[in-house]
Amino acid sequence: MDMQIYAHRGSSGSFAEHTRAAYLQALADGADGVECDLHLTADGHLVLLHDDAVDRTSDGSGAVADKSLAELRGLDFCGWKGAAIPAAYGTPSEQLLTLDGLLDILAAAGRPVGLAIEFKFGAGFEARLVDATLECLGRRGWHAADSMAGNVDVSFMSFHPDAVNYLAERVPAGRLCQLLEEVNPGEPDVGGAAGAMFMRQSGSEALLDDGVAHLAGPGVDYLRANPGNASRWLAAGRTLRVWTVDTAQELQLCRDAGVAELTTNWPAQLRALMAEL
Ligand code: G3P
Ligand code: CA
Repeated sequence: MDMQIYAHRGSSGSFAEHTRAAYLQALADGADGVECDLHLTADGHLVLLHDDAVDRTSDGSGAVADKSLAELRGLDFCGWKGAAIPAAYGTPSEQLLTLDGLLDILAAAGRPVGLAIEFKFGAGFEARLVDATLECLGRRGWHAADSMAGNVDVSFMSFHPDAVNYLAERVPAGRLCQLLEEVNPGEPDVGGAAGAMFMRQSGSEALLDDGVAHLAGPGVDYLRANPGNASRWLAAGRTLRVWTVDTAQELQLCRDAGVAELTTNWPAQLRALMAEL
């Protein structure tokens, strides 16, 4: 079976990441699923954004958590990318998506589609982001037993072991992904920021070895540097979901490693490359 293709922040090679246009393009590109990052606004809405602040991806500035949904909707999240949005993909003010907005788009796809939700925690793990997400999904008919919301197969990802442990009590292990940075776990704890990363990484890998999460989510550089870990998890029945795979060489590495799912900024191009492998 071909590797499943998830569109990273939507088809973010083509259009500005996390926008309505990027997700509509992902469906048009034939992606099997889409990936997103979530943040809570000051008034408690779940919005699709990667960074804690809006500075990089909009014409505004400041923390997402300090802004209301209405304030965020007043910003331009497309201009920085420089790719004109086709009229069929909505107006500029419709480009910022809430989780509900993305679920509407996926429900209208008319086919099965995966949704990989990533939780990031700039200032440490906070359960309320996960709780708000599960509450939203519950309103949309999501069932914890199979992690489906209608035609949408929902999986949950985080780099943060505390988040993965918290999710493990609420979602099926088969739809739970422990993400891994490109750090060599064999390196000694060198202290400081690098040491902190090493410690986080060690905890993350233990959750995969212990079967807390059944989806192993290494970055492509981690996969290249740590093939033994990937083989061990495959042998233990885990599924490899690798990010972010954008080149033929990276795709070949994934194919050789037995990867089942990958995340890419260019779903249509990866599909074409896959046909040539
Ligand atoms: O799929 C995981 C990947 O999205 C993690 O990296 O920084 O793009 O969220 P990032
Ligand atoms: Ca992400």
